[in-house]
Amino acid sequence: MSDSNRPRVLVARRVFDSVVQRLAAHFEVEANDEDTVWSKAELIARLQGKSGAFITGSERIDAEVLDACPQLKAVCNMAVGYNNIDLAACTARGVLASNTPDVLTETTADFGFALMMATARRLAESEHFLRRGEWSKWAYDMFIGPDVHGATLGILGMGRIGRAIARRGHLGFGMPVIYHNRSRLAPELEAEVGASYVSKDELLAQSDHLVIVLPYSPESHHAIGAAELGRMKSSATLTNIARGGIVDDAALAQALAERRIAAAGLDVFEGEPKVHPALLSVPNVVLTPHIASASVRTRLAMADLAADNLIAVLTGGSPPTPLNPQVLSG
Ligand code: DGY
Repeated sequence: MSDSNRPRVLVARRVFDSVVQRLAAHFEVEANDEDTVWSKAELIARLQGKSGAFITGSERIDAEVLDACPQLKAVCNMAVGYNNIDLAACTARGVLASNTPDVLTETTADFGFALMMATARRLAESEHFLRRGEWSKWAYDMFIGPDVHGATLGILGMGRIGRAIARRGHLGFGMPVIYHNRSRLAPELEAEVGASYVSKDELLAQSDHLVIVLPYSPESHHAIGAAELGRMKSSATLTNIARGGIVDDAALAQALAERRIAAAGLDVFEGEPKVHPALLSVPNVVLTPHIASASVRTRLAMADLAADNLIAVLTGGSPPTPLNPQVLSG
């Protein structure tokens, strides 16, 4: 039922019905049932008159959008990464931004570990070979590759997801774990996941399987480029489940083609959903479409948490996972 006194919110992408219904109990909801990824102009047009936005990593909220939508009070991201939100611009305009930490940690770590294993053990490459009808006999060296158990697991970016991957490697696969991060973990956290802190150069040189779990920022742009790939072992694998742009995809495709590293597993890409064409033509890469958090339970938990934040901000409550809580006391 329409009630023009209720706040209006935009749900910028198609999401679980139950979540839209929860929002509709509080607000006038405009939902993107067609699931179109709107242009900035379309997003601004849709946001007119809306107090809140339920967004995903595909919607960019920057100063231009905020200035064009001065009535906006909350932007709630259904993602833990929030490089799509200009947080400083939100804070300067008193707009609360939120993300969805914690609820996706274990699911994303499962996927990161699976992608690393698929990359090391050449699952995609061998599966494509079988489907092409090329399997005619067993051979001792057919799709031979490195072990995962006992190999050195390297982690670049040791936040919640990095630690969850380290724990899997340490406890489940007997892997020595090394990591590099802006700040070093407390000794008890290092001990819990069996991880040793090393410099970035040491991480690159010593890892058998390097997993990237850094947040994306201007500082982490191309943190892995040609020079860094050149420091890795030629037998090493690289897995990126963080964000496109952290790895220089063109440099990676070239390193893979020249076998300067053994293989890569990528769930995220620069300029996704476009994928660098050179990556599509090298065999030694496993490519997945940004699905690391995509378990049913976790995606529902993420959507519910984004909705919880939106409901709290617009009904005078305390949002559970704000990124700039200072705007609430301002
Ligand atoms: C996140 O939560 O940041 C993921 O990349 C989106 O699924």
